[in-house]
Amino acid sequence: MRWRSSCGSPSPLLLLLLSFLTLLVGRETVSGFRICSYNVEKLNMEKASNYKLVNTLARVVFRCDICLLQDVVDPDGKVEKKLLSTINRFGNYVYKSVSSKGLGRSAGDKRNFVFLYRTETVTVVDKHQYETKPPTFAREPLAVQFQSRTTLIKDFILVPVHTDPPHAVQEIDRLYDVFQKVSEKWKNKNVMFLGDFQAACAHMTRINKKKIRLFTNSNFTWLIGDKVDTTVSEDTNCAYDRIVVHGKSFLKAVVPMSAKVFDFKKEMYLTKSKQVRDLSDHYPVEVELRAKSSALLLKATPFLILLMAFVQFFL
Ligand SMILES: *[C@@H]1O[C@H](CO)[C@@H](O)[C@H](O)[C@H]1NC(C)=O
Repeated sequence: MRWRSSCGSPSPLLLLLLSFLTLLVGRETVSGFRICSYNVEKLNMEKASNYKLVNTLARVVFRCDICLLQDVVDPDGKVEKKLLSTINRFGNYVYKSVSSKGLGRSAGDKRNFVFLYRTETVTVVDKHQYETKPPTFAREPLAVQFQSRTTLIKDFILVPVHTDPPHAVQEIDRLYDVFQKVSEKWKNKNVMFLGDFQAACAHMTRINKKKIRLFTNSNFTWLIGDKVDTTVSEDTNCAYDRIVVHGKSFLKAVVPMSAKVFDFKKEMYLTKSKQVRDLSDHYPVEVELRAKSSALLLKATPFLILLMAFVQFFL
């Protein structure tokens, strides 16, 4: 404050008020809480032992408060351990995981859902392995109830999806039954479905939508649209990977326009397409939830800026 020294130093109280207000308005620009989903295409120990691959994957996961991986081949849990240790080497945040057992119709086709989450921002309250006899999904969802201290909506349920392509339409429709089951169980309708729905191209057409309750029931909002391409190949243009939320209050807690494909070749300045393709034939998708403070602050921001200008004027 050299420029003020001739007129005496400003009141410490005013300075304190000013820095407090700057902090308050500044917080508004802090990005929300990011939830990601990535079909990592048969992520087995061989892939997870590849230093370059697992490091690229760690950089993708590290941006997310919660990252759901699908298609993990991990009968003894070694892949999950390897992933956690690699991600946690990045410092700053500590990640933990919650995962399903191997799910699939035949012994050679078992795949795990693995949720990786930041312990600084979110905790796991409960989990529920959805099961029916006979099974209605190739890989029955492991629903997880999360609680976050930083988001506008504190408690929410994530339901992972990884459909079997020939039965994609039926399986997507049956997610409604999963919604009913878990929302009743936990008395919470803030449910998000995420993962590889195979909800495009040959596996789901526009006609099929009429038979899918997640489309016919207007309480569900599909955040990743039909025209989005979630595949890596230049030859395909399919919105396989999706994020769907239930209810108005959950929708309001989502940052508008934040649901998108994460093109990490571009965003992480990778030079070769191979670095993306070697990891998976899918791109990750993601969405942001609003931070707790943002709703109130959005309304208060014009007032705070005015107040700051006022305070600065008198300093
Ligand atoms: C949509 O949600 C509201 C509030 O939970 C509920 O009353 C209504 O029945 C739902 N509509 C449908 C079509 O399920």
